[in-house]
Amino acid sequence: MSYLCLENVVKTFNKTEVVKKMNLVIKQGELVSFLGPSGCGKTTTLNMIAGFLDVDGGKIVVDGKPVHLLPPNKREMGMVFQNYALFPHMTVFENVAYGLKLRKVSKDEIKSRVAEALEMVRLTGYEKRFPKELSGGQQQRVSLARALVIKPKVLLLDEPLSNLDAKLRQEMREEIVDIQKKVGITTIFVTHDQEEALAISDRIAVMYEGRIEQLDTPVEIYNHPHTDFVSRFIGEVNQVQGKVVKPLSEKESLVSFYGYEQIVTRHLAENGVIDFYIRPEKIHISLEPNNGIKVKVDRKMFLGAKTRYILQNKENKHIIADIPNTVLNPDHVQEGKDVSIQWNPEDLLATKK
Ligand SMILES: Nc1ncnc2c1ncn2[C@@H]1O[C@H](COP(=O)(O)OP(=O)(O)OP(=O)(O)O)[C@@H](O)[C@H]1O
Ligand SMILES: [Mg+2]
Repeated sequence: MSYLCLENVVKTFNKTEVVKKMNLVIKQGELVSFLGPSGCGKTTTLNMIAGFLDVDGGKIVVDGKPVHLLPPNKREMGMVFQNYALFPHMTVFENVAYGLKLRKVSKDEIKSRVAEALEMVRLTGYEKRFPKELSGGQQQRVSLARALVIKPKVLLLDEPLSNLDAKLRQEMREEIVDIQKKVGITTIFVTHDQEEALAISDRIAVMYEGRIEQLDTPVEIYNHPHTDFVSRFIGEVNQVQGKVVKPLSEKESLVSFYGYEQIVTRHLAENGVIDFYIRPEKIHISLEPNNGIKVKVDRKMFLGAKTRYILQNKENKHIIADIPNTVLNPDHVQEGKDVSIQWNPEDLLATKK
């Protein structure tokens, strides 16, 4: 059931629309990531949902009620910021208790709810410390406890892990998802780290220039990107050129990739030249040079479980292939040698429109 809805939400700064008629429906308990490059409008959208910025058009609805005209403290939302934004002169207990005090909750209840929130983020015993006496990860957990303690309807996280080192980041993201699922709270998680978004989200909203390009599960976003931008932004892709030999039917065309012909499930105009995308892990290497597109092994990089092969075709174009070492022993592939590559035509991704 829809729980948080954005309907044609617009934000304009200095006559430039930075959020363009955005529509979004999030179900109760769902974790949706906003993923997109710097400046695409992630923080602006989050701030409009939280109430720190007014909308210049459209509606925001939570649990059936419009909230876009309410002040932030009446919206029942918990927010976690990139820089934690803890009050430096307050202890951990006071930081977490702050929102409850504002809401005039009784002393006894504040005590038990702060204790519960700190337990959830595994910081029981840290009540008397000040933020400067905590590590980055601990400060981020206090910030999460402070957001959750008010029992918000929606949790908003703006790049909450970007100040942490890679390993801690991974641990914290698992912790956040565990807590999110346990509490069952509807959550928006802003990130520009695609791996993070793929790992934690129920659905990802890929944003570009103030719009949502695609809203889908991580698997769908990765395997079936709908636009050129999503194909290039999520994961890695090779761009390969196909020359249309002839259309075969309404749904199929014969396409030549550097002389290697394949049937592609799309109707394409005769003699057209189309760019396709193919992910490095979808390329198969055959040690026999005449078994597909002939390429030279320019370089190989052993990456532990897999090897990355940088291949060069006769037009001097580089194609990257990632092959698990259990599938192809890298010792059998010599740099400078000719091999051939292939792919399944159904693994070709959305192309330029
Ligand atoms: N207060 C403001 N006044 C004018 N322009 C602004 C303001 N806040 C944001 N912008 C502009 O709006 C656009 C969207 O900014 P926003 O902060 O939402 O991006 P973002 O997706 O969060 O980027 P990042 O990943 O860098 O945090 C940017 O072009 C930014 O320069
Ligand atoms: Mg931002």
